[in-house]
Amino acid sequence: MKVTIDNITIDVPAGTTILNAARMIGGDVTPPAMCYYSKLKDSGGKCRTCLVEVSKGSEKDPRPMPKLVASCRTGVMDGMEVKNMTSEKAQDMRKGIVEMLLINHPLDCPVCDQAGECDLQDLSYEHGTEKTRYEFERRKFEKEDIGPYIQLHMTRCILCYRCVYTADELTKKREHGVLERGDHAEISTLLGKALDNEFIGNVIDVCPVGALTDKTFRFKNRVWFTMPVDAHRDCPTCSGKTRLWMRGNEVFRVTARKDQWGEVEEWICNDCRFHKKETKDWVIEGPSHINRRSVIAQGHYEGNVGMAKQPVFLDKVIGKQPRLLMNIHDVSDVNRKDIDLSKIEGPAHSDDFDKKKLL
Ligand code: SF4
Ligand code: FES
Repeated sequence: MKVTIDNITIDVPAGTTILNAARMIGGDVTPPAMCYYSKLKDSGGKCRTCLVEVSKGSEKDPRPMPKLVASCRTGVMDGMEVKNMTSEKAQDMRKGIVEMLLINHPLDCPVCDQAGECDLQDLSYEHGTEKTRYEFERRKFEKEDIGPYIQLHMTRCILCYRCVYTADELTKKREHGVLERGDHAEISTLLGKALDNEFIGNVIDVCPVGALTDKTFRFKNRVWFTMPVDAHRDCPTCSGKTRLWMRGNEVFRVTARKDQWGEVEEWICNDCRFHKKETKDWVIEGPSHINRRSVIAQGHYEGNVGMAKQPVFLDKVIGKQPRLLMNIHDVSDVNRKDIDLSKIEGPAHSDDFDKKKLL
């Protein structure tokens, strides 16, 4: 089927959703997804961050769809035309969705372990507003201990259901779920039972926010100070293919490897994740590829471990050319117009600026 998204046309197999068609194109035309997860059956349709405008329904019936649609749940039709980045309505609605997701979300990024790799944090930077209009008290929950490895912060949960579907998929018995509805809805283990399945650590990786974090890593380090490397071990339970988050020779955290959409490539077992924190446990393959816009890219260099550091080009790190928000040469009073700071060798010195203005 032929589908055009933000003026880019692509052929996709019948049954493809708009979101997955956009992912095939890649880059900015891909709507953000906070609840959809390609590896989880039935995921999607909860958060509404992926809303897009369908300006032409199909070749047969070219009428536009009257409302914005969830791209993760809407299949493409032949000849369909979709607007994401080019739709003012969709962008405006996304702003509203971010505002709503943040209504009850505590502003605790400075102390949250997810900071630096939180999808909601990224989403608010890209689509949020600086201020809240919300004047009511935020939701509060009784603290619940869900076991020795996973920390639940219910106040941060956006009820995307990803962890519930992950647990459903990985375990035979239902271990936790969403209790109550509306404002009272919460993730719970029903009887306060520990989630003791040997793969349950994966719920940490699928959680888009800091609601589920790794107790063995909590407050040990900021993620942007660590360096992610791909590693493997001979594991009797899982594939043993993981990502180590290292600082020097110390392994601070072990997670599953994620793809360019931030989705887990292969589930890993609790033993690899929580108990193998020594470099001797692992065969290190090399620095992980960081695709997504993230502060993790800071101080992260790809290339072979032990070799000279490779220069990092932003477009390689984020998978596309950075969007130019402001050209410093146009707005700065102290920049010399004849010097392009991004082109000089090494760091800038005082000579590279207009000295009179510097004083
Ligand atoms: S705990 Fe995380 S993964 Fe689970 S529903 Fe809440 S936000 Fe989603
Ligand atoms: S990603 Fe489509 S509704 Fe959440």
